[in-house]
Amino acid sequence: MLAISMHFLKSKILFAPYWIVIWDIYRMNDYYSEQLSSNNLKRCYDIAPSRVKQYLQSEVDYVLEHIQKTDHVIELGCGYGRILKDLLPVSSKVIGIDTSIESLIIAKDFVEQKIGCHLFQANAECLPLQDVSFDKVVCIQNGISAFKVDPLDLLKESIRITRKGGLCLFSSYSEKFWEHRIDWFKLQADAGLIGEIDWNRTSDGVISCRDGFTATTFRPEDFSNLSSQLNLDTRIIEIDSSSVFCVISV
Ligand SMILES: C[S@@+](CC[C@H](N)C(=O)[O-])C[C@H]1O[C@@H](n2cnc3c(N)ncnc32)[C@H](O)[C@@H]1O
Repeated sequence: MLAISMHFLKSKILFAPYWIVIWDIYRMNDYYSEQLSSNNLKRCYDIAPSRVKQYLQSEVDYVLEHIQKTDHVIELGCGYGRILKDLLPVSSKVIGIDTSIESLIIAKDFVEQKIGCHLFQANAECLPLQDVSFDKVVCIQNGISAFKVDPLDLLKESIRITRKGGLCLFSSYSEKFWEHRIDWFKLQADAGLIGEIDWNRTSDGVISCRDGFTATTFRPEDFSNLSSQLNLDTRIIEIDSSSVFCVISV
């Protein structure tokens, strides 16, 4: 049985065996839902230069090192299912949630595997899921910045749904990766996937576009400040000189 709270009763549509629950009690009019979803989001990853592809793979590999075959895993902000596809063969149940229904519809086909994967439209800050339901909560590719939610609330909500002995894994970009990150975002802007980069407002870990898109960075000290408010064992580690992970033991 899926561990879904009473909020589930308010869900509007259910597809089986892949379940995409439309959870639109709150309006989900974020940049990713309106501008950067489904095939546009996929194109961002498809056009990534080789060093960026290495970064993306290293991030996933680091997560996979922490997954066990019996684990119930949730990915927050799963997009079109890029990471879900790697999580499915190594765990027992995988749930992907995202605010963008368009991305979830693509994920349904992209992930292909029909059993053990469930997709929900939900906001990571307020999950319609029961307490202590997952062994691993995964929020990588700078989701903590992309979600535009209070980061401490995001961490607390992730911890709430994690079982004792489980882990919450968050990642952002390493400062060492700045030039590669900029090159990649410039390619995305040139392809019309995000707005033109506003170079006057782009520096020090912040990328700002003329259409309102903004991406920030959570540095090790930012993760450290956040986790110091949680009273849980936390490991902050840089991987591949490209990403910074914050791994919280629950
Ligand atoms: C940078 S993309 C990463 C997608 C996927 N994790 C990957 O690495 O391929 C961020 C994703 O988070 C989703 N998102 C944005 N705000 C969210 C929120 N508040 N809760 C859940 N997902 C959100 C977006 O729709 C988008 O799919």
